Amino acid sequence: MSQTFKQVIALLSGFSLSLILLVHAQDQSGFISIDCGATENSTYTLQASGLNYIPDATFINTGENKLILPEYRDGYILPYISLRSFPEGIRNCYKINVTSGIKYLIRAAFLYGNYDGQNKVPDFDLYLGPNLWDSVRFPNASEATTIKELIHVPLRNYIHVCLVNTASGVPFISAIELRPLPNASYGTQMPNDTLALAVRYDTGPTALNYTLHR
Ligand SMILES: *[C@@H]1O[C@H](CO)[C@@H](O)[C@H](O)[C@H]1NC(C)=O
Ligand SMILES: *[C@@H]1O[C@H](CO)[C@@H](O)[C@H](O)[C@H]1NC(C)=O
Ligand SMILES: *[C@@H]1O[C@H](CO)[C@@H](O)[C@H](O)[C@H]1NC(C)=O
Ligand SMILES: *[C@@H]1O[C@H](CO)[C@@H](O)[C@H](O)[C@H]1NC(C)=O
Ligand SMILES: *[C@@H]1O[C@H](CO)[C@@H](O)[C@H](O)[C@H]1NC(C)=O
Ligand SMILES: *[C@@H]1O[C@H](CO)[C@@H](O)[C@H](O)[C@H]1NC(C)=O
Repeated sequence: MSQTFKQVIALLSGFSLSLILLVHAQDQSGFISIDCGATENSTYTLQASGLNYIPDATFINTGENKLILPEYRDGYILPYISLRSFPEGIRNCYKINVTSGIKYLIRAAFLYGNYDGQNKVPDFDLYLGPNLWDSVRFPNASEATTIKELIHVPLRNYIHVCLVNTASGVPFISAIELRPLPNASYGTQMPNDTLALAVRYDTGPTALNYTLHR
């Protein structure tokens, strides 16, 4: 078994454990669930998960609120129905307050849903602060959804999540979710090493449901 594969397995078992702990506790302290592009003051509890979502207006000043087209909404939870798009500027950033020194799972979700009626998916870059997190690409307009995840220990009491226009369409984002993790989960060599999600398996699903994350 290769070293890399072993590391992936270690990562997976660590995650299952921490996820179970988080879900069991149903304690949302430290959870930050942002519904990008949601109308101002539209805070709500997502019934399926019991988690509270807040609109993104207090985290960013730029961009435009948009909705995916109705024919794409089937099977997607409310936080993914609205999005914020960034037709102006090369780099647009969310500033989100966090607790420095705590390990976070940071998730960014993207669902195109032909919100602009162009039926043409963009291609852009996602940054965590000054560091490239990942490129956001979609196979085609009908399968245009993706989720990016990182495990990260912020050094400051805020993070910047940035969308960078690479001249291949207008960047957008549907949701940003932060979950504090137990300190010991996903041990890395340096306490502040950042991990990207390789793959996740649900080891105890109650039903086939790929749209529901906590
Ligand atoms: C949101 O709430 C604030 C404070 O209550 C209010 O001033 C503002 O008009 C509200 N915005 C909308 C879009 O309802
Ligand atoms: C999956 O989650 C959605 C969103 O909450 C819910 O409407 C649906 O019933 C769930 N499906 C199953 C098979 O549990
Ligand atoms: C983030 O923290 C700063 C400094 O403590 C504070 O001024 C600001 O209002 C906070 N922002 C939000 C959105 O809570
Ligand atoms: C879009 O991409 C998905 C995944 O690669 C593929 O299964 C699907 O057939 C594609 N649809 C079209 C219309 O090309
Ligand atoms: C988390 O781990 C760091 C580094 O090992 C340690 O300094 C810190 O006290 C731990 N925090 C908690 C809450 O256990
Ligand atoms: C991680 O922490 C160490 C020691 O605090 C520091 O020297 C290093 O620059 C940090 N690395 C990153 C990527 O922040």
